[in-house]
Formats: sequence, C-alpha cells, structure tokens
Amino acid sequence: MPELVTPSAQYRKSFLEAVREMQAEGGGGLASSRTWDTDEIAADFDAFLQHLRRLEPPAGLPEGWVHSSEFWLVDGDTYLGRADLRHSLTPGMREFGGHIGYEVWPSARRQGYGKMLLRLTLERAQELGIERVLITCDAENLGSRGVIEGNGGVLEGEFRLDLHPRPFRRYWITL
Ligand SMILES: CC(C)(COP(=O)(O)OP(=O)(O)OC[C@H]1O[C@@H](n2cnc3c(N)ncnc32)[C@H](O)[C@@H]1OP(=O)(O)O)[C@@H](O)C(=O)NCCC(=O)NCCS
Repeated sequence: MPELVTPSAQYRKSFLEAVREMQAEGGGGLASSRTWDTDEIAADFDAFLQHLRRLEPPAGLPEGWVHSSEFWLVDGDTYLGRADLRHSLTPGMREFGGHIGYEVWPSARRQGYGKMLLRLTLERAQELGIERVLITCDAENLGSRGVIEGNGGVLEGEFRLDLHPRPFRRYWITL
C-alpha cells in the first residue's frame, strides 16, 4: 500500500531512476529540471536529502522564504512521486505557486497516484493547521486539474501573469 514518507536513502535507487526518466522525457515537473544533476545527487545522496529538507522547521529562513516540507509517495522501496508543502504563503505565492507542488514518476502516471499524493499531503497540511490550501496549475495541465478537482478543489478563476508564460488556474481546498 503506498504511503507518504519523509525522503530517505531507502528510496535512493528508485528515486534516481525516476529523475533520470523525467529528465530524458523532458516534460513538466520539478525533478525534470536540469539543475538536478543525477550524478552529483548519486555521489552524495545524504547531502541531497539535507538540501531537500533545508526549509523545514526549525531551519532559519533566507529573507522572503517560508517553511516548506518535502514528502515522497512510495510503495515498498519504490519511489512514486513527490510533493512540496509550503507552510504559509508569501504575497507572490498567493498570486502564483500556492501551498503545494507535486509530480508523479512518469511510469506511474494515470493510475490514481497523483490524487493519492495530494490527498495525503492535504492531511499533512491539516496537521500544520492550514485551513485553506491554494494550488495553482497551468490551464492546459489536464492531469493536474484532475488531481486537484478529485480532491475537492474549488476554482477561483483562470489568470495570466507576466512572470508565467501560460494561463493558469487557482484552486482552493478547505480542510
Ligand atoms: C499532474 C500529475 C501529477 C498527475 O498525476 P497522475 O498520477 O497521472 O494523476 P491521477 O492518475 O491521479 O489522475 C487524476 C485525474 O486526472 C486525469 N488525468 C491524469 N493525467 C491526465 C492527462 N495527461 N490528460 C487528461 N487527464 C489526465 C486522470 O484520468 C484522473 O481523472 P479521474 O479522476 O477522472 O479518473 C502528473 O501528470 C505529473 O507529475 N505531471 C508533471 C508535473 C506536474 O504537472 N505537476 C503539477 C504541477 S501544478
């Protein structure tokens, strides 16, 4: 049964495989970014895990940043996806970005894991005392819209901003 966990070295092999697959695919997603050098990550996985968790409380924050937590959806030793939960919103994140970002390993998509990943992350948000969760996604991202709407997301509207090249949607989920 898949579960939401704190990132750990137990999932190293599967995680690296997933990131390589995402980078080869070149599609959307946080891990598909070329700024993640898989050879570097593999060479010192513990340092990478620390980097991922650098904004978790009680860490001190750089000016203008908020606390955030990284979670992985896993099944046994298999990595399925990740979510980043921002504990509060800056004015900029209220406009675009919201509380939660997520992605599912390409090989694991369209099997309901996206909806499960968001549902479990919303439970963590509730534990933190967040009452209303904002999630933004590109209007053309039908998968993400399905994930949000499947978790009760209520559409605020569709917007455009100079800083983002495509129309995007804001959804709210009341916990
Ligand atoms: C968006 C994403 C997380 C969806 O993950 P997933 O595991 O495929 O999602 P699910 O299987 O839970 O699907 C949720 C719903 O969306 C639908 N869906 C998923 N992908 C879809 C697609 N490409 N086109 C149309 N519908 C899609 C599913 O059929 C399902 O609908 P249902 O509730 O009617 O059954 C995944 O595609 C991904 O990681 N994309 C890249 C990163 C990204 O876009 N992150 C979100 C940023 S806002």
